[in-house]
Amino acid sequence: MAFAAAMGVQAAPPHDLDDNGLYAPGELSAIYRHSPLKPLPTVTAGRVTEDTRAARLGQYLFFERRFSANGAVSCATCHVPEKAFADARRVGTGLAAGERNTPGLLNVAFERWYFWDGRADSLWAQALGPIENAKEFGGDRLNTLHLVAEDAPLRRAYELVFGPPPPLGDAERFPRHASPDSAPGSPAARAWSAMSLADRDAANRMYANLGKAIEAYERKLVDGDSAFDRYVAALKSGDRAGQRAYPAAAKRGLKLFVGAAQCELCHSGPSFSDGEFHNIGLPLLAGESADNGRAAGIDIVRASDFNGIGPYSDHPEGRAKDQLSYLPPPESQLGSFKTPNLRNVALTAPYMHDGRFDTLSAVLDFYAKGREASRGQMLLGEREATLDLVPRLSSDQADDLTAFLNTLTGRALPAELTTAPGEP
Ligand code: HEC
Ligand code: HEC
Repeated sequence: MAFAAAMGVQAAPPHDLDDNGLYAPGELSAIYRHSPLKPLPTVTAGRVTEDTRAARLGQYLFFERRFSANGAVSCATCHVPEKAFADARRVGTGLAAGERNTPGLLNVAFERWYFWDGRADSLWAQALGPIENAKEFGGDRLNTLHLVAEDAPLRRAYELVFGPPPPLGDAERFPRHASPDSAPGSPAARAWSAMSLADRDAANRMYANLGKAIEAYERKLVDGDSAFDRYVAALKSGDRAGQRAYPAAAKRGLKLFVGAAQCELCHSGPSFSDGEFHNIGLPLLAGESADNGRAAGIDIVRASDFNGIGPYSDHPEGRAKDQLSYLPPPESQLGSFKTPNLRNVALTAPYMHDGRFDTLSAVLDFYAKGREASRGQMLLGEREATLDLVPRLSSDQADDLTAFLNTLTGRALPAELTTAPGEP
């Protein structure tokens, strides 16, 4: 310093070092792979996803409560816009409490599989599940279609995007209440069985279209521009001021995340998810019944009429087909759940498929303890080598990782995307 000063050279202050030097080359390229968000995938998307009228209709449907058995439940009951489209509850609760935690929906269109067990392979097919789920809406397929067709503005909005609905006014052919997913032997299940194959197909097509409208809306729930994204941009451009704006603890956490702590083996890419399923060795909680997870999801998605190779898919050939054709044997997936996207994770407590952890610190405590944390009964099946991959972490390291996760919160969405539109 004194020498530099004597030579009349301005020494760079230590805080002006370029952060690129903090990371090993492998860590740096891993960091760059996590940001920015890429264009939305279209592999299994419906053909109306770019249609703004479809998105508006979908947004209207998202907030619509009439489809539920008690007229009080909509998608937004559990996917609350102010809570990053999650609900801050341990498990989702509509007509009754369910079994699993409600995921947030920001950036959801980047997922490859939907639900914790991946039992849907597209966003539009996913949206059809809650309406007929007895614990969520408790609704039924035909009643949903009738409600759309009978409401003049809704019907008009539907027709503009998809053309005329089937002749639902013909009560002989299209009963008021009917669903293949109602309890076996129930009046709605019997009414569905009594419909002709052609009428069931027409009803399914309209039902799938409602899902495709909801998908078009959900594809707009993209944020980005988190403190982490701004940091990566500053790293790439060599912007020192931008690099200094990022907290030191988050930098240490990031280095661990892509390096020694091995988190990015699974939480990889701009969504912080490999789109795959893992059994990370969570112990079975007292009073909790075992959840088969992906093992059951594989069978359901294969059998679904609404999967990517089914009659209502708009791309039955492409990658959706490969995705469904190369699935592992279900029994190898017992107790496996989808790697969750970690963007906005600070906003979506509680955590894990069963909402068992109230805070990010509690999640990190689980990872930090490694195998010790999962001693005792596993949820199910053989855990993978996950907890051998993640090394034991000190509490300082766990805190740094938490500080890093807290920088993944994206920019707020505009109000016109987070509120119920006045009309469809
Ligand atoms: C009663 C609460 C509740 C309602 C109502 C509800 N959801 Fe969900 N949602 C959940 C829960 C819980 C899960 C996870 C369930 C599982 O994995 O088995 C979920 C999962 C999802 C997912 C998958 C996210 C992912 O990353 O895999 C999407 C998308 C979604 N819901 C959208 C919707 C839409 C659209 C509606 C309305 C048609 C809706 N939800 C209604 C609670 C609810
Ligand atoms: C082998 C794959 C794998 C590795 C390695 C891994 N995770 Fe996970 N992570 C998962 C899966 C799968 C879940 C969901 C498990 C469940 O609910 O049963 C999860 C859940 C989480 C959650 C809860 C998110 C939510 O929305 O509920 C956080 C936070 C998290 N991981 C952070 C980390 C961190 C930090 C590391 C590194 C220390 C890490 N993970 C390492 C696969 C992995």
